[in-house]
Amino acid sequence: MPLPAHAPGHASGHEPDRDCPRCPRLVAFRETWRARQPGWFNAPVPSFGPDDARLLIVGLAPGLQGANATGRPFTGDWAGDLLYATLIEFGFARGQYDERPDDGLELVDCRITNAVRCVPPENKPIGAEIATCRDYLRPQLAADRPVRAVVALGRIAHDSLLATLGRRAASAPFGHGAVHDCGTFSLYDSYHCSRYNTNTRRLTPDMFRKVFADVRRFIDRADAGVRRSR
Ligand code: URA
Repeated sequence: MPLPAHAPGHASGHEPDRDCPRCPRLVAFRETWRARQPGWFNAPVPSFGPDDARLLIVGLAPGLQGANATGRPFTGDWAGDLLYATLIEFGFARGQYDERPDDGLELVDCRITNAVRCVPPENKPIGAEIATCRDYLRPQLAADRPVRAVVALGRIAHDSLLATLGRRAASAPFGHGAVHDCGTFSLYDSYHCSRYNTNTRRLTPDMFRKVFADVRRFIDRADAGVRRSR
């Protein structure tokens, strides 16, 4: 499987190095999987999508056999099936999602990243890892960035996003469908589109679609406002 080049935006310092040494537990896990599966990506997974996108989606962390193997967020992960189908439906992606980084799928005005860039054991990053990796989330939200809407997939992404802004989690509690004003952007919360959440129907495709329908309307309105004021 062709792997994506590591990593667009790398030179700007916004992406961790392929051999990022900062989280000892994640480094050890990565080395184990490099030895077991040398054909996999096995490195911090870079953000996917244009740098000037107005929508930023923040997931949790790469899945072991999905994004960690393919090198593209949500690609080859169960969660990617629902996420990419929904993005295509609402015009935030075009092409066909085929679980491979060379499937030709393009994101449109949308960028996807993860709160933690390296695959964590049992899919569970610890607090120190989330805090360390925030150094790669923060620059994507700087006030001079064009981001107008952020979708947090799950509470960990939500809390980490608030922490990048220096806000306490209690000031804007996570809730599926909740929208929080964060100054230069609006934060939309969704339950994570994980296999567990969809199998238990904590998150249905319709619930997920509703979040992106709201985001689509918000972004289109923001655009109309800009055009009117010109
Ligand atoms: N794959 C990702 O890249 N992120 C997630 O949060 C889940 C699967």
